[in-house]
Amino acid sequence: MKSTKYLPLAFYSALVLSVTGCKPFSAAAQTTAVSVENASEETMYRPNFHFTPKKGWMNDPNGMFFANGYYHLFYQYYPDKSVWGPMHWGHAISKDLVKWEEQQIAIYPDKDKYIFSGSAVVDVNNTSGLKTGKNDPIIAIYTLHDMTKEKEGKMDVEQQDIAFSNDNGFTWQKFEEGNPVVKNPGIRDFRDPKVSWDETHKQWIMVLAAQDRAQFYKSSNLKNWEFVSEFGKETGAHGGVWECPDFFQIKVEGTKETKWVLIQNLNPGGPNGGSGVQYFVGDFDGKTFTLDPGFAKRVNNEKAVWADYGKDNYAGVTWNNVPSSDGRRLFIGWMSNWEYAQQVPTTSWRSSTTIARELKLVKKNGSYNLESIPVKEINNYVSKTIKKSGLKGNGKLVLTENGKADLAQTIISLDLKNLKHDQYTFELSNSDGESLKFGLNNKENYLFVDRSKAGKIDFSEKFASTISKAFLNGNQKEAVFKIILDKTSIEIFYNNGEKVMTEIFFLNKPFTAFSVSATEKIEVSNLVIQELNVSKNNKE
Ligand code: FRU
Repeated sequence: MKSTKYLPLAFYSALVLSVTGCKPFSAAAQTTAVSVENASEETMYRPNFHFTPKKGWMNDPNGMFFANGYYHLFYQYYPDKSVWGPMHWGHAISKDLVKWEEQQIAIYPDKDKYIFSGSAVVDVNNTSGLKTGKNDPIIAIYTLHDMTKEKEGKMDVEQQDIAFSNDNGFTWQKFEEGNPVVKNPGIRDFRDPKVSWDETHKQWIMVLAAQDRAQFYKSSNLKNWEFVSEFGKETGAHGGVWECPDFFQIKVEGTKETKWVLIQNLNPGGPNGGSGVQYFVGDFDGKTFTLDPGFAKRVNNEKAVWADYGKDNYAGVTWNNVPSSDGRRLFIGWMSNWEYAQQVPTTSWRSSTTIARELKLVKKNGSYNLESIPVKEINNYVSKTIKKSGLKGNGKLVLTENGKADLAQTIISLDLKNLKHDQYTFELSNSDGESLKFGLNNKENYLFVDRSKAGKIDFSEKFASTISKAFLNGNQKEAVFKIILDKTSIEIFYNNGEKVMTEIFFLNKPFTAFSVSATEKIEVSNLVIQELNVSKNNKE
């Protein structure tokens, strides 16, 4: 985010207290009544199955972990307004990463001391000594951002603090006597600690964003941290401030080899402007992260490598403590962009998360590619399936006729065969002439998304001023698309997640038709449209 986000805000006078009570409670209990004027906003813009807070402002996902049957998602949250403000950690839980239930606020700011982004770990061996009962203690590590110091123009506004929970993550207590656990070393941007257990070197590792680089710290007890190294000052994209890193070991698909991935969110300077999720692949000796030589070449050629090339996937990080019997590396992002996040046309709440995704590291062309696919649990909510095969057309091929499928909560999978033309353009449209275009330019080898005609765009000059592009590694012979649509968003997974593009849009009427066009012959060998109904009970 730009430093302007942190300009002095309205005086924050609420007396803030740690929350009490232990049970997850239903979101309905804290829903504020939706006013009549907001009814159409709810109908048109509240996603069907992507998480949104009932009211207020949300940005980064924070502190995600799995414990006791629930995936926990915390997030940067300001309940009182739908713009950024005094940051709390909001909280939601899910049994399957698809259907989310909002909970009471997890961590409150103290006056002028905002709770910025961070992570949480399940301290299975009670290394912290913070266990009080039967449950494994859960430790949240976050940045405390001091607005008073910021207003005074001081450098040391950010430090790393911890809070802990002894009821599986539902209520939290700040570790008052021991904070900060990492002091500010005199760096203005010094935030977003991501902690994980490094099983190879038997230590806790913290990676945090220090302005233009990532810093690594190690610990045996989550309370005392030792600086070990830094990475990235001269590597990758540096169009803005590095924020929200993540660091994990992952198996290379189809091999026994493992590599370390450093996710490093950046704002501005993303692949298509504003915020973006870049990453690096390499090795880690317990202290220093070193780029893999093949990946180093790739970064050199491409300048930066991104986990998503759309404009609306930011601050994405992964879940802690996913059981080894599951073994997936699970990711979720904030589906917006600091270029316009505070102007998008919703008023009672702002922002949603991306769909939760499974990350895979794939060895390709002498380097590595971090690929993502939607979590498989989404398939449990398919309520209607339309299948077509061997579709052929000339110029334009209608893929669904008007009204045959609900394009506001759908997964569309299709493959284009025998690619002969320069460009294949998919179009989602409605009777008001609104349309979202995306597709493949096979002459200059890129995927694109064009939302310039997809409803409201005038709330921000930056929102639809350019077509977003994701460059591909050469000419494509065939193309496999999986597309997730949820009222205000499209998530495009190309060739099983090799390239991903995520974008939001704000229609005046829902889309009713879907087609593909090219100069002449078009061949779609398989088309599957799966309508989703996430309000029904999971088949599990
Ligand atoms: C990223 C970010 C983080 C910070 C948080 C504040 O979007 O700027 O770096 O911790 O948002 O809300």
